[in-house]
Amino acid sequence: MLKAVLAQSSYLLHAESGPATLGEGTSDVPIPFNQPYMTGRELEYIAQAHANKHLAGNGVFTRRCQDWLQQHLGCRKALLTHSCTAALEMAALLAELQPGDEVILPSFTFVSTANAFVLRGAVPVFVDVRPDTFNLDETKVEAAITPRTRAIVVVHYAGVPAEMDVLRAIADRHGLLLIEDAAQAILAQYRGRPAGSLGHLAAISFHETKNVISGEGGALLINDPRFLTRAEILWEKGTNRTALLRGEVDKYTWIDMGSSFLPSELVAAFLWAQLEQADAILAQRLHAWETYHKALAPLEDQGVLRRPCIPPHCRHNAHLYYVLLEGLTARTRFIEQLKHQNIMAVFHYVPLHSSPAGRRYGRTQGTMSVTDRAGESLVRLPLWLGIDAFLPRIIAGVYRACRTVTLPLAA
Ligand SMILES: Cc1ncc(COP(=O)(O)O)c(C=O)c1O
Repeated sequence: MLKAVLAQSSYLLHAESGPATLGEGTSDVPIPFNQPYMTGRELEYIAQAHANKHLAGNGVFTRRCQDWLQQHLGCRKALLTHSCTAALEMAALLAELQPGDEVILPSFTFVSTANAFVLRGAVPVFVDVRPDTFNLDETKVEAAITPRTRAIVVVHYAGVPAEMDVLRAIADRHGLLLIEDAAQAILAQYRGRPAGSLGHLAAISFHETKNVISGEGGALLINDPRFLTRAEILWEKGTNRTALLRGEVDKYTWIDMGSSFLPSELVAAFLWAQLEQADAILAQRLHAWETYHKALAPLEDQGVLRRPCIPPHCRHNAHLYYVLLEGLTARTRFIEQLKHQNIMAVFHYVPLHSSPAGRRYGRTQGTMSVTDRAGESLVRLPLWLGIDAFLPRIIAGVYRACRTVTLPLAA
């Protein structure tokens, strides 16, 4: 059957160029899973920050980046942070959680989604994800709400927005905060509205694996005006220094709890070079994503793998391209086979509810069968700016790896 699939594909020549044995293709240069993209102006802007003699945070570049985020992501206020993790920790502080309060979130996510709330003594209540997008299953959220529930945290997995209208209605009905972990979702849209503008609070990431980067970096996005003042104070070590910089007070002092959440101007300068190019970066990533999607369609048609599913009302941001294999054994063989061809692919995620800390700090609500299945069968393929020249080789490699996966296991 797979032979027939291969025969339909323009990648046949690559895929047929040798038997699916170990070591095949190793003479080719390794294709990394991720490669950070530099726009070319990062060092120029860092030199400007250096010349400005303002190296600490909250300077010209910080404000430029925050203005850009406010304009392009439709939030009321953006505050740059060291990481998305730090932005989530700020969101947890703003939520004023008490020990034992509960936060509903997916288990199919990165650890920071839960950790930020565990640091405040809250209990993560894991709910299963949708089988199409692997985002929080909005139909299962209400069953998880108890008198201790304070917030719902959604993740826009792979830069595909979760079902925000339904989730917002649930949050409003029960008086809960809706927090977006939009780490992966810069410039994605839900029904024409930007990810990050849809919850009360949102967090995005500029980690070097993301679409727009500053090494480590992130931002807290504030949509609900009741958090505006306190967020600025938390951000600047619990002081009203930001108000001083705006000329609203004549000295600054300790007002509230807080920490040092803001990055230096050097990081903001780097980030500015990236934000300037964000639309072009998005277009190029979408092109690579579409190339994968089109080329792998025959494999999906034949039931060999499953491709990502994008709901028609969502605009994704091509943050990552994944495929789903039949299960853990098939996926392990698939990743190994790609590795033998010098193509680095990785899985996502060890579900949090089955991790040691997830079991210690959290609990599940209902079955986690979709999460467990995704955790065993999902593989991310390399996707970075400049990958286009390698795509024919990777796609041929996927076809070849699929052939291995469908062979019977050695006894
Ligand atoms: C869904 C999600 N949340 C949070 C994070 C943490 O981001 P950062 O590395 O910027 O702290 C990541 C990073 O991969 C992520 O994918």
